[in-house]
Amino acid sequence: MNVKFYIKTVGCQMNVLDSELATADLLQNDCTPAETMDEADIILFNTCSVREHAEEKVYSALGRLRSWKAKHPQGVLGVMGCMAQKDGKLIFRRAPEVNLVLGPGRLNELSDAIARIAKSGTPELLLSSNRLHSGQTAAEVRASFHQYDRPRLLQARDSRYQAMVRIMFGCNKFCTYCIVPSVRGPEQSRPMKEIVQEVKSLVEQGCREVMLLGQTVNNWHVQDESGDYYMADLLERLNDINDLWRIRFVSSYPTGMTNRLLEAVRDLERVMPYLHVPAQHGANSVLKRMKRMYTVEEYRDLLDRIYAIIPGAAVTSDFIVGFCGETEEEYLKTVELVRYGQFKNSFIFKYSPRPGTKSAELYEDDVPEEEKKRRNNDLLAIQTEISQKLNNAFLNQTVSVLVEGPSLLTQKEQMRDAGVSPLPVVSNLETAIQMTGRTPCDRIVVFNGKPSLAGTIQQVQIKEIAPFTLAGELVR
Ligand code: 5AD
Ligand code: SF4
Repeated sequence: MNVKFYIKTVGCQMNVLDSELATADLLQNDCTPAETMDEADIILFNTCSVREHAEEKVYSALGRLRSWKAKHPQGVLGVMGCMAQKDGKLIFRRAPEVNLVLGPGRLNELSDAIARIAKSGTPELLLSSNRLHSGQTAAEVRASFHQYDRPRLLQARDSRYQAMVRIMFGCNKFCTYCIVPSVRGPEQSRPMKEIVQEVKSLVEQGCREVMLLGQTVNNWHVQDESGDYYMADLLERLNDINDLWRIRFVSSYPTGMTNRLLEAVRDLERVMPYLHVPAQHGANSVLKRMKRMYTVEEYRDLLDRIYAIIPGAAVTSDFIVGFCGETEEEYLKTVELVRYGQFKNSFIFKYSPRPGTKSAELYEDDVPEEEKKRRNNDLLAIQTEISQKLNNAFLNQTVSVLVEGPSLLTQKEQMRDAGVSPLPVVSNLETAIQMTGRTPCDRIVVFNGKPSLAGTIQQVQIKEIAPFTLAGELVR
């Protein structure tokens, strides 16, 4: 039997990781990856619900698969991820070709569900309980969200040298704009032992850098017979793993960033001086409507502590513009915070009301789209100027780069020159080509080098600066 599968992933790193685990799952169930959707017997869309735009794109992609379905009457067309949990049955109505809808809390049933559908042809809907309206106890709701844990397979990953590791599931914050707590379920920290084992197994596969994932990752906390453990303890433990060179963690919530944690980032040599701490807004009135649990003064104090404690720290943030009732005056407070923050980078989003969230229920989405766009572009321009200015400080400096591989542009050129050569051929070429990697503070560096440098740390002297990239030369 040669069943082929294709997974299309949209959304955040959690989804990228889930797709990797699903790939590993299917590979271990005798399926092989398809090059294109057309030749696949199983197509899975791993979806995102954070903003409406992402959902609409999935619905139109599903609509385009009618001819695929006609060619593959026994095929499995699945929607998994956040949108599956949020829209549920509605997906069958809007996209009748779909025969599997699988929420993030039921991913552990993926391969069994596919086998059943392929055999019986009966569509399946596998969801966790609705956290807000199911009428169940907290324990029952929690039990309906299963953790998706799979052995890590090198063949399922894009990179041999880097991997993501989930250390927390779900979220309990319920920020008023956010759908994540409803679709990803209650917050749960994974046990220390499991995380350490998983990282060790990744290192044995050649992985050199791990990105620890959680919605409020800095607040990872477990309790067992031997005591209470916090993020700083976990980092200490992971820092002792031989042949692991770099550890990062995202995303941090602005509360719970203790000095002990910041000192651990400073003192543990393998923990990189890079923190992603979404502020979301610069006005207390808006932070309150968003139900963020801090004031802008507290967020500024956190920034002061980060920069005072961790030398050379890079901080990035997320901001939402055009949230319900956002006045020009309130927006300007965000501008003020962006200027104060000196962020390496900010991810800026236009508010998008999500059915099932408090803000969609309680407040009017009253900032006109044009105005959202203007604030978005305006803030982006301010941030880009800051990013460029911060990068300028790297001119002529020598930075240590963990090399990831040929830059995307180079890969594309090479593939075009060689017909459609797959990546392994590209990696065998030993001519100098443009390579890419990152500094400890997560800045992207490009330089001319050889593909065999992938997975090593190189010293690169920076010669040219752009807002989001540094270009340099290898130091011999
Ligand atoms: N509208 C716009 N942006 C949102 N985000 C989360 N929910 C929404 C929404 N409803 C943004 C936040 C979050 C990032 C991942 O997406 O900034 O940090
Ligand atoms: Fe969403 Fe807030 Fe949880 Fe982040 S902390 S996932 S924004 S609810």
